[in-house]
Amino acid sequence: MIEEGALGRSAGLIAGFAPSSVLVLTHPALAGPYAESLLVGLRAAGVRVSPLALPPGERGKSLRTVERVYAAMAEASLDRRSLLVTVGGGVLGDLGGFAAATYLRGIDFVQAPTTLLAQVDASVGGKTGVDLPQGKNLVGAFHQPRAVIIDTATLRTLPARELRAGLAEVVKYGIIRDAAFFERVGALLPALLGRRADALTEVIRRSCEIKAEVVSADETEQGLRAVLNFGHTVGHALEAVTSYRRYKHGEAISIGMISACLVGERLGVTPPEVTARVEALLRAARLPVDYPADLATDAVIAAMERDKKRVAGRHTFVLARRIGEVEIRGDVPETAIREAIAEHLRRGSAP
Ligand SMILES: NC(=O)c1ccc[n+]([C@@H]2O[C@H](COP(=O)([O-])OP(=O)(O)OC[C@H]3O[C@@H](n4cnc5c(N)ncnc54)[C@H](O)[C@@H]3O)[C@@H](O)[C@H]2O)c1
Ligand SMILES: [Zn+2]
Repeated sequence: MIEEGALGRSAGLIAGFAPSSVLVLTHPALAGPYAESLLVGLRAAGVRVSPLALPPGERGKSLRTVERVYAAMAEASLDRRSLLVTVGGGVLGDLGGFAAATYLRGIDFVQAPTTLLAQVDASVGGKTGVDLPQGKNLVGAFHQPRAVIIDTATLRTLPARELRAGLAEVVKYGIIRDAAFFERVGALLPALLGRRADALTEVIRRSCEIKAEVVSADETEQGLRAVLNFGHTVGHALEAVTSYRRYKHGEAISIGMISACLVGERLGVTPPEVTARVEALLRAARLPVDYPADLATDAVIAAMERDKKRVAGRHTFVLARRIGEVEIRGDVPETAIREAIAEHLRRGSAP
């Protein structure tokens, strides 16, 4: 369900699943504007419902917080026919989904993502989980939500930087799968940055379709699903090297998509005009594209080597053949990556 005002109208849908009770998970700042209308609607529909507001932030995506959620579930006497609803971004969706996947060996959950990133990415594919001090998303489970409720009206209060970070993944979907969509995102960019409901609905719908197509062809991440990692090899490394503090995920992926294009150029896969078009669209979305000059290349490459996506010595990259078509290469030599980073740095420092 993707529409303006969907949250206010979703109580009937959730009540229709006939849950014995519902726990609504959200953040304090989102409780009043978004979760409350759902609570009121569910109560009016005769559903027993309790709320739990957790502090925001990736640091809360932990087993400790999951334990808090379990405690609230037990205190509210949730049983196997109960249902968990998350109203929040990707952190809450991943965390709540994991709690639902594991409480009583699995209860239903419904996701109401309120960030663009969560709407176009985290809400599709059934991945749930939490971070460990040793790394992100190290503990998790596949658990599909019964329903995903995407209310574009929630994006009006989303900080602009979070909105743009979500747009990076939207641009990625165009590059990996749909050239016409890539063009369309460019045409709609002013409307998207201005949070026009029709433009947001259109790109969220297509983004979810593309992710669902890729995921359903490859439920357990053996092959095709890896194309979703376009821009993520270097992007993840930049996030890790900066301790997840400097960049929003989408910002790191924006820079990483340019890195992937430049690696693709080195291997003769990506034509330079593709790089130029990707860069122009990301710049227009006011996303960062320049490689950070203060980070040591060795440290970034070391972080890539620690990333779980690497297979046996060679680096795996998703490379763009053209806009709308990518290939997965598991044999990218480190020299090509070093050359691409050097070129990326030269471009950033060029007048
Ligand atoms: N499961 C998946 O497939 C998948 C895919 C991509 C990302 N993720 C995960 O998603 C997480 C990132 O998600 P995110 O970018 O949504 O971050 P987030 O959940 O931390 O939300 C970002 C911030 O925006 C606030 N916020 C959320 N909605 C708002 C709204 N409508 N108005 C105002 N403020 C709002 C939140 O409180 C938070 O402070 C990461 O943990 C990542 O691992 C999961
Ligand atoms: Zn991503």
